[in-house]
Amino acid sequence: MEKRFARITLDPDFQISRIDKRIYGSFIEHLGRAVYGGVYQPGHPSADEEGFRRDVLDLVREIGVPIVRYPGGNFVSNYFWEDGVGPVAQRPKRLDLAWRSTEPNLIGVNEFARWAKKAGTDVMMAVNLGTRGIDAACSLVEYCNHPSGSKYSDLRIAHGVAGPHNFKVWCLGNEMDGPWQVGHKTALEYGHLANETAKALRQIDPSLELVVCGSSNTGMPTYPQWEATVLEEAYDSVDYISLHTYYGNRLNDTNSFLAQSDDMDRFIGTIGSVCDFVKAKKRGKKDIKLSFDEWNVWFHSDAADQDEMANRPWSAAPHLLEDRYNFEDALMVGLLLITLIKHSDRVRMACLAQLVNVIAPIMTEENGPAWKQTIFYPYLHASQYGRGVALNTALRSSQHDTRDFGPVTDVESAAVWNPEKDEVTIFAVNRNLEEDVALEADLRGFPGYRLEEHIVLEHGDFKAVNSARSQAVAPKSVLARDLLDSGMLNSRLAAASWNVVRLKKA
Ligand code: AHR
Repeated sequence: MEKRFARITLDPDFQISRIDKRIYGSFIEHLGRAVYGGVYQPGHPSADEEGFRRDVLDLVREIGVPIVRYPGGNFVSNYFWEDGVGPVAQRPKRLDLAWRSTEPNLIGVNEFARWAKKAGTDVMMAVNLGTRGIDAACSLVEYCNHPSGSKYSDLRIAHGVAGPHNFKVWCLGNEMDGPWQVGHKTALEYGHLANETAKALRQIDPSLELVVCGSSNTGMPTYPQWEATVLEEAYDSVDYISLHTYYGNRLNDTNSFLAQSDDMDRFIGTIGSVCDFVKAKKRGKKDIKLSFDEWNVWFHSDAADQDEMANRPWSAAPHLLEDRYNFEDALMVGLLLITLIKHSDRVRMACLAQLVNVIAPIMTEENGPAWKQTIFYPYLHASQYGRGVALNTALRSSQHDTRDFGPVTDVESAAVWNPEKDEVTIFAVNRNLEEDVALEADLRGFPGYRLEEHIVLEHGDFKAVNSARSQAVAPKSVLARDLLDSGMLNSRLAAASWNVVRLKKA
């Protein structure tokens, strides 16, 4: 046996779940240059007649982002949605307390709906349960989803939008467990408010899918009691509970950094158990699903963000959360995507936070092009090839030691079978930084499949970054590393690499 090995078995009968494509969702918040200077920049050479950057739209469409959360994030907890509708010239400027920025309200819900249509994506809306409550949430849902014949639906029509937006997914606030949240609440206060809000919103539109706030991360002192208390209040009226988490190589220990994806795995397992506990306690019939609606690497911009918010005057669209991602961050994003796919029976929605300029795979230059960060690529590949049925691969892998987590697997992997296209895709990260791993995949359950492509992301420098001028970290095709014989695939996973092995029925 090879010293470094990974073995998987793929069979159409070993199914985890049909993947909800919305696990490849993303997020655009009124924060920094995500909206202004990101998706919207009238006057830019690529701007269309509505001021939306076509170069950004092209990249969003290339990924095939299925759903985008909007308008926040922390921003939503002090947002007055009415400021962002009606004649643009009459819209007020507001102080956004979350990010200490001036919100010009040039883009609001109707403009964002038009952008989403152009981007080919759905919208996951959030309501303000920080400074506002049931009343404002109801008026917003009525404005967006009620056809006509009521105060707010008629107001939308008067604003030039004849048909309802029919947004299906709504988040009941954002990170209400966090003391940083404007209008932060205890679990009991929030659970009660979320339940009453959900009941009222369903009166307006019974087809809504509602997401209640879980913990902001596993380090919160109230985790995971928060989820239990909130669900004991709101179990009957919600469909999903949210999970948020951000990782970072703060101590410059890449080995331990790449082991942090195991934390996401445990997080999902724990919250699934809390949901089942509450279901059992209530003698309930439905499973609460998970919406991992904020996840990413986020730490590079910490010092710059603190400086911007503490020492600069209020301004619109300041440079905030503009993390420049490197090669090892792309590996981590690949690992997190693999974790989401492996849990696709329970995680039915997820949002890479965020999409443009703010901790994002897509960056824009004010007077230049839109360009792809390193993390763009694993996200692109998962969204492109990760549609279909997630398979339980029974992975066995050699291990290596890490300072923070002890021994962890060299390889993390997920496999997706797309029966409609007769395709099978294996996603694998070799997180052993020094040694290649021999991958053996038993594909005898998929007779007639042949190797289509082996895409790899690898780089000699873990800190290598991309820019508007250089795509130093970009995928390449390496089919010579693979051999498929009598249903057994042998492949080489290079040390520290993201791999996408694609097979198709001949
Ligand atoms: O995505 C950036 C911020 O992270 C969001 O506004 C907030 O919900 C989270 O803390």
